[in-house]
Amino acid sequence: MEFAQKLSDTPKSDAERAAILANPGFGDHFTDHTAVVDWNWSEDGGRWSNARIEPYGPISLDPAASVLHYGQEIFEGLKAYRHADGTVWTFRAEANAERFNKSAARLALPELPTEVFIDSLRQLVQTDRAWVPSGDGEALYLRPFMIATEAFLGVRPSREVSYRVIASPAGNYFGGELKPVSIWLSTRYARAGRGGTGEAKCGGNYAASLAAQMEAEANGCKQVLFLDPFNDNAVEELGGMNVFFVFDDGRIVTPELNGNILRGVTRSSVIQLAKDRGLTVEERRITLDEWRRTAENGRLREVFACGTAAVITPIGELKTTEESITTPSLQADSVTMSIREELLGIQTGTAEDTHGWLTRL
Ligand code: COI
Repeated sequence: MEFAQKLSDTPKSDAERAAILANPGFGDHFTDHTAVVDWNWSEDGGRWSNARIEPYGPISLDPAASVLHYGQEIFEGLKAYRHADGTVWTFRAEANAERFNKSAARLALPELPTEVFIDSLRQLVQTDRAWVPSGDGEALYLRPFMIATEAFLGVRPSREVSYRVIASPAGNYFGGELKPVSIWLSTRYARAGRGGTGEAKCGGNYAASLAAQMEAEANGCKQVLFLDPFNDNAVEELGGMNVFFVFDDGRIVTPELNGNILRGVTRSSVIQLAKDRGLTVEERRITLDEWRRTAENGRLREVFACGTAAVITPIGELKTTEESITTPSLQADSVTMSIREELLGIQTGTAEDTHGWLTRL
């Protein structure tokens, strides 16, 4: 699809951009442009049109736009990495496009052709190329999203939709140096239920995690863990990332995709990289009891969170009002850090991309 281009009259100066890139943080700063494609319903199914790059800035929406009332919205998260030769690449963008369309189907939004998804990333990154950071563990975080813009208060799928991409230079999601994080166990709130939207990447799931996240922060924790109380307290996922366990016999366990948890692209990459090393990976139910028991009897070695934003972050402790389940200190040869390094190596071009996961932008 052809993207028309209207460039910003007021882009950040080189000095302003350099100051941001010197300490990008996560999600605080945005590049000078945005990609946009409109969709309109029609009897024969609807049509995407008017693809464009335009200056980054506020969106004008009718106050009756259905996204503002019924939360008909989905999003994605992926990153663009600068390689040593200056080229810029993204990681498994087709997987994000596929998941975006699964989320779209669940939220009764139109599907976006994969080529348009990838073109939108390429056009935006080519326009705002100077914003791709090159520091260790840094990348340009890309946030594609789709919102229902029709002004209509009846509850039905919107007949007007806007697809957009914004970009934000990003360092460590949790701020500062990488170190094991403490996780709060939510016992008051659940994230998903059978048949619900747990697997979709929709804003509502994240809005619903915020009260629990506030509880986590009030208890000195960085993220919140959700269980399925109707399934023997099976571990599901954190507020915004998947979770993995490493046992003393080398087995790696992660909750299975049961419709309640996000189909993490990092999750599936970790599974593949672990299998490539000959490790056994089990995607299955893992309960809070098993976590507690194996931490107590010494069989649990490592626990980590993973996601596009979090990359791979070790979990040092799970806290509740009654107990703290601690993970042993990370050994020098930990699976967590070694898979993290391999993954970042592939993404940043220092390790071989044997699975063909990179796309040049
Ligand atoms: C991502 O990892 O890309 C997410 O969307 C999760 C969020 C915590 C930023």
